[in-house]
Amino acid sequence: MITQLVYVSTPIDACIDEFNSSLPLNQIKNNECGITGMMLTHKHFYMQLIEGDRSLVNLLYNKIVVDSRHRNVTLVKYQDIVTRQFDDWYYAVIDKDIDPIFYRSITDLVNVGDDFVNTVSGPVAMCVLHRTAAIACIKTTLGHT
Ligand SMILES: Cc1cc2nc3c(=O)[nH]c(=O)nc-3n(C[C@H](O)[C@H](O)[C@H](O)COP(=O)(O)O)c2cc1C
Repeated sequence: MITQLVYVSTPIDACIDEFNSSLPLNQIKNNECGITGMMLTHKHFYMQLIEGDRSLVNLLYNKIVVDSRHRNVTLVKYQDIVTRQFDDWYYAVIDKDIDPIFYRSITDLVNVGDDFVNTVSGPVAMCVLHRTAAIACIKTTLGHT
């Protein structure tokens, strides 16, 4: 059985660069313990989905919750699933200047204001994550990434 967890949080501005540079290491650690999922970053929020063995998902989440590089960590989904929905590790930046079409496709779904963590629901977060995966897949197919 696989456990799937989704949380959102608010980045600490001063830590964003350091956090971004730690992403490759996070990916390696996740690979080592069979954690897959998706990390989305936006200037006002982080959204992360992690899937894997329940004890490992819980262990990682407990570390993430107390990580001082973000705050307002809010669990929006936690469930057991039979098969993984995200069987690799994906990372995407939601930034108007980097990819305006992708930015628009996400901001059509959510209000990305300061109060994001208190307003986004689990189902909407899943829409955001699946839409991101679909767009990333289209881009990869078209050779744009
Ligand atoms: C927004 C955010 C997402 C994170 N995601 C992961 C992750 O997917 N995998 C990971 O190993 N660490 C992740 N971390 C880092 C953990 O909080 C923690 O620092 C890291 O697991 C190192 O723990 P350790 O010193 O016990 O090895 C994340 C931190 C933040 C702030």
